[in-house]
Amino acid sequence: QAQPVDIGSDAIDLPSLRHDLTACRRCALHCHATQTVPGTGPDHARLMIIGEQPGDQEDLKGTPFVGPAGQVLNAAMRHTGLDRHSAYLTNAVKHFKFAPRGKRRIHQTPTAHEVDACRWWLRQEIAIVRPSLIVTLGATALKSLTNQTLAQSRGRLTIMENGTARLATIHPSYLLRLPDAERRQSEEARFHADLQQASKWL
Ligand code: URA
Repeated sequence: QAQPVDIGSDAIDLPSLRHDLTACRRCALHCHATQTVPGTGPDHARLMIIGEQPGDQEDLKGTPFVGPAGQVLNAAMRHTGLDRHSAYLTNAVKHFKFAPRGKRRIHQTPTAHEVDACRWWLRQEIAIVRPSLIVTLGATALKSLTNQTLAQSRGRLTIMENGTARLATIHPSYLLRLPDAERRQSEEARFHADLQQASKWL
């Protein structure tokens, strides 16, 4: 397994962090992805939302949450009164991990090693943006910040060691994968309730 290579970034602002990220070789994911997908949003957003990794469309466009999962997230944010443009959106892993299948690129879950390697960037993003609240979407984003499982911490506001609040919820792509409309509706309502908590806290 590739060892993280320290490329010496200790960025002091988001433009320099984004610049340094383009050269990231901390794990092997950069070999196949189109580009690094950095976080996006205001420098000092009060709310930071962390997903897993860029998907197919994010990889092509270089921006997080612009594909189908992003549409679900947008709708949920609108529903709960959270403004996407005031939030800083990023991912635990900054390169798309996929397996080619014909013309399609199928999402692959990043390994613990890849999440560990990319935590270097996430820590810097958190240190620069200094959000009041971090919402993690899904198990990978949560794992990037804590050892807790989603079952243990979902929907509960927790204050981290650095004083930042954290709230864990599901990943919006989970809703897209549910085949049963009734189940999807109830899971969507739970997702909205989690985001409502975030919006009340801000
Ligand atoms: N899923 C994520 O976790 N992040 C994105 O940016 C897109 C899809």
